[in-house]
Amino acid sequence: MSGTVYGIGVGPGDPELITVKALRLLRAAAVIAYPAPDQGDSFARAIVAGFLTGTQTEIVIRTPMEAARFPAQEIYDRAAGEIAAHVAAGRDVAVLCQGDPFFYGSFMYLFGRLAETCRVEVVPGVSSLTACAAAMGAPLAARNDVLAVIPAPLPETDIAERLAAADAAAIIKIGRHAGKVRQVITRLGLADRARYIERATLAQQRILRLDELVDAEAPYFSLVLVHRRGEAWR
Ligand SMILES: C[S@@+](CC[C@H](N)C(=O)[O-])C[C@H]1O[C@@H](n2cnc3c(N)ncnc32)[C@H](O)[C@@H]1O
Repeated sequence: MSGTVYGIGVGPGDPELITVKALRLLRAAAVIAYPAPDQGDSFARAIVAGFLTGTQTEIVIRTPMEAARFPAQEIYDRAAGEIAAHVAAGRDVAVLCQGDPFFYGSFMYLFGRLAETCRVEVVPGVSSLTACAAAMGAPLAARNDVLAVIPAPLPETDIAERLAAADAAAIIKIGRHAGKVRQVITRLGLADRARYIERATLAQQRILRLDELVDAEAPYFSLVLVHRRGEAWR
């Protein structure tokens, strides 16, 4: 009998924020697969390192962080083929996904390649949005607020337009776009309504006001939450 592919959300960083279901499936899988940068360790694997059995086969999916679409497509084609072979041989494969697999998660590229030929189950995880809001003590949205999720690599004019149209916003993928993000929020007069957080739920977590964000480059695992109406939940 064939195995199953599990797309497992492992949460934002704190290993205690993994779900009971994810933990059960992770421990039972014969094979684990996870994304990793070109060089260096996988964040998703590091989150669950303490839960691994030590006997599982591991598939490392190395993807350049700023991958152009085509090389990345080849990488996912190859990884999907490897995973499908394990599944055909009857082995379950747990694909580790930082945060939630279907919230800007690279798992969706494997899902797109495997879902028609293999049994695939997606296990949702605690996403960075909810984890960051909790860590900052700042509800994401209240009443009928419209919440926008805005990727920082977008051009400045697009960010400004989306911000201007939303009541609350989460600007993700800050990285080398920190200066641009600070500038556009300040220009819209929202600087005192914005807060920055990096590495939420980890020991290295930092929360800053926007004007304290002085580096042109922030870590990749950082985001900015903006509440146009201030503390709208009061
Ligand atoms: C490609 S998206 C993946 C999101 C992930 N699937 C989730 O559910 O949160 C990566 C972005 O999520 C945000 N992010 C993820 N984990 C974070 C953390 N622990 N602290 C702050 N931001 C985080 C950052 O903005 C980062 O650039």
